[in-house]
Amino acid sequence: MSRSAPALRPYLPDDAPLLAAIFAASIMDLTGDDYSEAQQEAWAMAAADEAAFGKKLAGQLTLIATLQGAPVGFASLKGADLIDMLYVHPSAVGQGVGSALCDALEKIASARGAKNLKVDASDTALEFFRKRGYVAQQRNSVTINDEWLANTTMQKQLDGVATPGGHA
Ligand code: ACO
Repeated sequence: MSRSAPALRPYLPDDAPLLAAIFAASIMDLTGDDYSEAQQEAWAMAAADEAAFGKKLAGQLTLIATLQGAPVGFASLKGADLIDMLYVHPSAVGQGVGSALCDALEKIASARGAKNLKVDASDTALEFFRKRGYVAQQRNSVTINDEWLANTTMQKQLDGVATPGGHA
């Protein structure tokens, strides 16, 4: 069966409730091998205040991936050089959605002048980023809603990423 490639579009304020639902479903369904249920719940609760979550999405460069017109994932770039969020709905994993979102953020970061792109990768996403050329820099423990969660700061060199009309 042939699958259609994900399409990308910018975030709009009305998207906040849907992205909050994708965020929670992604965490609760996909990260259970790496985090406890209490950690997952604390993490997913970070989008419970939809107004605050929407404000965060709007304050960053947020892209939405769609399959057949339906949003299935999103990613955000904070400033020029940090991937802050990357979440794919459980029903859409393994179809290149995360890759399409990351490809776009890497090009935008490069166009913004970043030489390196950083991400604090969840343990679940570590291998995804490693395959894309991100190198682990340090392990971190962060508190979210009174739970400690581990992640890894990873970095990818963007030199050589082609930008439209860019230099060699
Ligand atoms: N473990 C190992 N490999 C993986 C994983 C994984 N969890 N997820 C994807 N891959 C691999 C795929 O097999 C594929 O490999 P291939 O190119 O050799 O075939 C490659 O990575 C690309 O896969 P995609 O289909 O593009 O990725 P997908 O759309 O499934 O999204 C993601 C990956 C974003 C990690 C998704 O699993 C997810 O949302 N996870 C839960 C939420 C999460 O942890 N997000 C990151 C939080 S950290 C942050 O936001 C910065």
